[in-house]
Amino acid sequence: MLQLQFEFQIRFSITIPTLTMFLLKTWRQSAFGVYGYLNFTKPAFLEHSKNFKPEEMETQIPGKNCLVTGANSGIGYATAEGLAQRGATVYLVCRNKERGEAALSQIQTKTGNQNVHLEICDLSSVTDIRSLASRFSKKNVPLHVLVNFQSYCYIAEII
Ligand SMILES: NC(=O)c1ccc[n+]([C@@H]2O[C@H](COP(=O)([O-])OP(=O)(O)OC[C@H]3O[C@@H](n4cnc5c(N)ncnc54)[C@H](OP(=O)(O)O)[C@@H]3O)[C@@H](O)[C@H]2O)c1
Repeated sequence: MLQLQFEFQIRFSITIPTLTMFLLKTWRQSAFGVYGYLNFTKPAFLEHSKNFKPEEMETQIPGKNCLVTGANSGIGYATAEGLAQRGATVYLVCRNKERGEAALSQIQTKTGNQNVHLEICDLSSVTDIRSLASRFSKKNVPLHVLVNFQSYCYIAEII
């Protein structure tokens, strides 16, 4: 009697470092996904907003030094104005002098806060960022808040 026998054999050869990297990457991606789902989706927003206390938005923060990039328009401008409204010392980081000065004067007039300053810096230039960091450190004041709307993460590393 003719007997046919097929045998399949699949062999995986994987080194310990490769397996470790694979597990680490899988873990990081899963953790990132879960964190994102729990914090940055609409249901997460609705859940978190239950703890939102509007009066906390009115907290005054005089003496706090805040640096806001992309501060002459959009959400950068709104953030800078909000911080100035709360009495903080605000440094507007803008690349264009005229637009920066217009935002500075508008914020000072609207909030009555004169502790608003303009720093000219093109955030696409590492040289400019280094120069800004150097100017800021010469002021010898602590930086309490860095709001990085328009920037490479590099600015956070330097300042
Ligand atoms: N608006 C939103 O709902 C929203 C939501 C999520 C994320 N974002 C992000 O938040 C950032 C700002 O958004 P936006 O809507 O406020 O934008 P926007 O109104 O266009 O404001 C961008 C600001 O960044 C400045 N800027 C751009 N390139 C710069 C550079 N190389 N150096 C210095 N300043 C520079 C611009 O200055 P100039 O006037 O000189 O161009 C402007 O003041 C963007 O990265 C955007 O992707 C926005």
